[in-house]
Amino acid sequence: MVGFGLNGHRVTVQVEAFSSLADVLRTRLGLTGTKKGCNQGACGACTVLVDDRRVLSCLMLAVQAQGRSVTTIEGVGTPDALHDLQREFVTADGFQCGFCTSGQICSALGMLEEIDAGIPSAVADHVAAQPDPTELEIRERMSGNLCRCGAYNGIVAAVRAYAGRERAR
Ligand code: FES
Ligand code: FES
Repeated sequence: MVGFGLNGHRVTVQVEAFSSLADVLRTRLGLTGTKKGCNQGACGACTVLVDDRRVLSCLMLAVQAQGRSVTTIEGVGTPDALHDLQREFVTADGFQCGFCTSGQICSALGMLEEIDAGIPSAVADHVAAQPDPTELEIRERMSGNLCRCGAYNGIVAAVRAYAGRERAR
């Protein structure tokens, strides 16, 4: 048994010791918004937030979630109440098939937390993280999230628009 916070609720679920968090979310808990692309840490489709940090759920054992707080795309927004970042994805045409989108959105939210925490980018010309990431910086920070449809221009535009708006508040 493993117990953890999931999208604001407490869940307890029976898992195998070898089950990944991605598999448990999808098959035991019915949260299929989290996608499995490569199942080996290479594509980012399975990205969720664990204690507000982005995590590849295909590489995390479900038992490692014990006592922690997990947020999936279902906890970010709903069709009736989209998160502002989801709205920016719609506006900017940030997806085609949508398979990578849950991971892109969770990853972007985690990335912005990393910037706020002062974690610098490998391509930034400054050591300290800057509050308003450049397009190049977003592309580097999000480079673990692949999009086979090639919707990168829209993805970056959506993330930039959201980041700029959030920081203008
Ligand atoms: S499914 Fe987890 S990184 Fe690809
Ligand atoms: S929108 Fe199809 S893989 Fe990204």
